[in-house]
Amino acid sequence: MVVTRTRSPIRSNVGLKAVMAVTGIILVLFLILHMIGNLKVFTGETSFDHYAHWLRDIGKPLLPGVWFLWIQRGVLTVAVVAHIAAATALARRSRAARPVRYAHRPKVQGSYAARTMRWGGVIILLFVIYHLLDLTTGHLNPVGDPTRPYANVVADFAPERWYVTLFYTLAVVALGFHLRHGAFSAFRSLGQQTPKGERRARTAALVFAVALCAGFLVVPFAVLTGLVS
Ligand code: HEM
Repeated sequence: MVVTRTRSPIRSNVGLKAVMAVTGIILVLFLILHMIGNLKVFTGETSFDHYAHWLRDIGKPLLPGVWFLWIQRGVLTVAVVAHIAAATALARRSRAARPVRYAHRPKVQGSYAARTMRWGGVIILLFVIYHLLDLTTGHLNPVGDPTRPYANVVADFAPERWYVTLFYTLAVVALGFHLRHGAFSAFRSLGQQTPKGERRARTAALVFAVALCAGFLVVPFAVLTGLVS
């Protein structure tokens, strides 16, 4: 008897791209909400801390304790792992389909963002690990009190710790390039498949990435310059 192994639909190229898209959308939604939430730092310490404590109470009384927070953390972790696994599988497959490497890779092949997706992704992952130890657990933060997020943020980006702001800036810019490429792919698929449609998708992706980066970076720079203290 001949046993033929069939590949599950999710492992097809289209399936893997769908995994990239769905997990990408989940992560982008989190980023948009996180960026908007961070801007509450401009409303003062009491308001920001109150908001941060409220984040832990979402879902109550339907869900007990900090269940929602842990469900959110679980969903984000699964999304990150699936996003990386699908990206790796797709990259391996495209290399396998082209066994002889280009002797000189043409410069025009793919955009700058497309070519740097892998390294951008690695920088973002390292940043998130640092960021969690900094502002969630407090281990790498001068104040490091999880019940006082405003004080943690202000201590983090103090002028004498300019290198922390520099590191955050580099990571957020890497995130911007990554998002520009991801958003461009999504908008191009959704829009008209014409040169004009592609130009529009490119502009929309650029505007989206710049707005998100600016929204994130305004917080560290407000602390660095003394606007928030
Ligand atoms: C650059 C400006 C940013 C600031 C000021 C900032 C601030 C914060 C703060 C204060 C917390 C702790 C919230 C709390 O525990 O009450 C937090 C958590 C977090 N941030 Fe950021 N963040 C920034 C950028 C980012 C970026 C770019 C990412 C992702 C690439 C990110 C991902 C996260 C995650 C995953 C958590 C943990 C949420 C949880 O507790 O489950 N943050 N951030």
